[in-house]
Formats: sequence, structure tokens, C-alpha cells
Amino acid sequence: MTRQPDLIADVSEILLTEEEIQAKVRDLGRRISDDYAGRALTLVSVLKGSLPFMADLMRSITIPVQIDLMEVSSYGGTATETSGLVRILKDLSSSIDGRHVLIVEDIIDTGLTLNYLVRYLRGKNPASLRICALLDKPARRLVEIPIDYRGFLIPDQFVVGYGLDYGETYRNLRFVGVLRPEVYTADPD
Ligand code: IMP
Repeated sequence: MTRQPDLIADVSEILLTEEEIQAKVRDLGRRISDDYAGRALTLVSVLKGSLPFMADLMRSITIPVQIDLMEVSSYGGTATETSGLVRILKDLSSSIDGRHVLIVEDIIDTGLTLNYLVRYLRGKNPASLRICALLDKPARRLVEIPIDYRGFLIPDQFVVGYGLDYGETYRNLRFVGVLRPEVYTADPD
């Protein structure tokens, strides 16, 4: 029988509280507003994990912005690890030609997903391309990724909440917490 997730009991530790996240997002929004003042800025977010971060960040930005959404899936990996093979499930809806683009990402782990995305978006001729990531988990980085705006450095633990999932669950938690390893080691992939 499949195990029923328990949103609270399955989290062993709260890594970042709602208040810490909100304060950081406001700070990032202020810095981005200053840096991009007077420029045509497009925020490109990667579904689904970045959805809460994008929604909060765009409202912390006080200059005009356009937003666009992409959805990618990596395949060939496991439930907790990416493989680097990325498939675009939803592409941009508007041209970014000549616009300043800021990628809004939930978490950078190996960096393989973002490495692919950066190369893909560069090919679309933006005026500039930078990266804003809420969480940076450098322990398992396989490719060098320059993070222009970073929220938090986190240890090498599998985290859920504030958009991040395990098996499509836990995204609606308002905090970021460490998922109990029993939860993902009990499940076959
Ligand atoms: P990367 O390609 O290894 O950098 O992984 C990027 C993607 O893997 C993220 O956008 C997340 O969807 C997922 N991911 C990586 N680490 C975690 C984690 O600790 N919890 C939930 N998802 C994660």
C-alpha cells in the first residue's frame, strides 16, 4: 500500500521559517529594483518549484517587469537527484530578444538544469542574462553556475516546502524543511 504523506510529521527540521524567507525575498526585491532601474526586465521562472518564490519576488520588485514561465523536467535521474537530461515541457510565451532577463529559480543543486536553461536562453538573444536563486546547495555542484542573487546557502540535505516537492507533495508548506530520509528511502523510485 502506498504511504500517505504527512506534511508536518515528515519534516524533521525547519531550515528556514516563513519570516526568514519573506525578509530575504524583500531584500532581493529591493536589490533587483535598484540594479535594473530604467531597464526592460523580464523575470523567467521555472515551474513548478519556483512558483511561490516568483509570486513573492515579483511583488517585492518596485520597477516595471514582465514575467514569463517555463516548465522543464529532467529525466533519467531518481526521485531526489537530477540527471542533466532536460526536456522543455513549456517554453517562453514572449520574445526575450533585447530584454534583460533574470532567471528566478527555487534551488540550485548539481546545477545541471540551470546550465541547460542558461544555454537555451542565451540563444534567444537577451540583452543580459542573470540568475536569482532562493536556495544554493553547493555540496553537489557539478557545473559552475554564477549566481547573481542568492537567497540562502543550505547544507546537503533534501528539502521540501515553499514550492519544493518530493513526489509532487509538500510544495504548499510555507517554510523550507528537511524531509525525513525514511520518507524517500521507504519509497521505491
Ligand atoms: P539541479 O539540476 O541538480 O541543480 O536541480 C535542480 C532541480 O532539482 C530544482 O529545480 C528542484 O526541482 C530539484 N531539487 C534539487 N534539490 C532539491 C531538494 O533538496 N528538494 C527538492 N527539489 C530539489
